[in-house]
Amino acid sequence: MTAPLKQDTTIVDVALENRAYDIVIGRDVLASLGSRVAALRPGVRTAIVTDKTVAKHWLAQTEASLAAAGVPSSRVIVDEGEGSKTYDGLEKVSEALVAAKIERNDLVIALGGGVVGDLAGFAAAILRRGVDFVQVPTSLLAQVDSSVGGKTGINSPQGKNLLGAFHQPVLVIADTAVLDTLSPRQFRAGYAEIAKYGVLGDEAFFSWLENNHGEVFKGGTAREHAIATSCRAKAAIVTRDERETGERALLNLGHTFGHALEAATGFSDRLFHGEGIAIGMVLASEFSASLGMIGESDAARVKRHLAEVGLPTHLQDIAGFGQEGLADADALMALMAQDKKVRRGKLTFILLEAVGRAVIAKDVDPSRVRNFLQANLKSKA
Ligand SMILES: NC(=O)c1ccc[n+]([C@@H]2O[C@H](COP(=O)([O-])OP(=O)(O)OC[C@H]3O[C@@H](n4cnc5c(N)ncnc54)[C@H](O)[C@@H]3O)[C@@H](O)[C@H]2O)c1
Ligand SMILES: [Zn+2]
Repeated sequence: MTAPLKQDTTIVDVALENRAYDIVIGRDVLASLGSRVAALRPGVRTAIVTDKTVAKHWLAQTEASLAAAGVPSSRVIVDEGEGSKTYDGLEKVSEALVAAKIERNDLVIALGGGVVGDLAGFAAAILRRGVDFVQVPTSLLAQVDSSVGGKTGINSPQGKNLLGAFHQPVLVIADTAVLDTLSPRQFRAGYAEIAKYGVLGDEAFFSWLENNHGEVFKGGTAREHAIATSCRAKAAIVTRDERETGERALLNLGHTFGHALEAATGFSDRLFHGEGIAIGMVLASEFSASLGMIGESDAARVKRHLAEVGLPTHLQDIAGFGQEGLADADALMALMAQDKKVRRGKLTFILLEAVGRAVIAKDVDPSRVRNFLQANLKSKA
């Protein structure tokens, strides 16, 4: 595998026929946003939706790029964090977009992490029955995962991401320089999703990450290569199965366990999404090993790499472990039963046949999962 030359811009094509779009990846590509938008939609008006933290660091550059290309823009700034992915947040953004006179042929620009992307994308999907939007992902997680593939939405008080729409962006601009202002912990959490692409479908990439993770964290071409490879992997799966009737579910590797852990910690700063996914991927690997699908050494390999970059890999790594449901297999089972991936009492898990080959296991017997969790909790307690 060769990394692109320094300063190169990599373009990953999401080949969804009449809704195909480019993901533009590279250092300082944010400067090209205005000219790309002007070329795509001459005469368009735009509204930038962002959060307070991202606005502080990157809104001025974003507005300057649009202004330089003669593209008018207005701004909608929400509070940072999951608390904005709500009915209230949606109302605020939607009303602001109406007030900004964003019409059918105009564009919404989502400048931020996954929260802003999901929220602004959903607001765009329902505004005037659908206006187009551009993703400018600013967190690593958003660059490799949430900005690609068209899932948008908000949370219900009863569960995460329960309201939403499939709405593909018309352009994604992933500027790797914006990641320089992201906290190291947020960067690491996003890295879990990068590792996920290797574990679920590309052993050679996983092995490349084992050898090059230091450079990915430092920045430069290795980082761009990791992001582009991740986007290509997601784009390929989404192109084949946009609406998740099959293969797209593989992207949920580590997520059934991970979501239960996020729920158990109240979706708080105690456990970022990517951290939950890191632990979830280790659990999915160890569960696969316990079923004899992979060897113990394969599961250990996944765990070793995630631990090496500083991600949590045990339930016991979660702050406040033991204070509540986390140490209790039944409580975790109850949380998993609330996940979207449950159908009539049977759990769907993404399991491994090898490092680099995940499969969808549709009717996993809950008692096997419970026994596995019980043993796992005991063995390391
Ligand atoms: N649509 C999808 O396919 C999909 C996939 C995965 C996750 N998600 C969603 O994404 C959300 C999580 O995304 P996230 O981890 O990006 O969270 P986030 O959007 O809350 O961003 C994390 C934090 O980093 C800050 N931040 C973002 N970019 C920054 C930058 N460049 N510099 C400094 N600070 C910056 C934000 O202000 C925020 O405080 C969840 O709501 C999840 O459900 C969606
Ligand atoms: Zn995820």
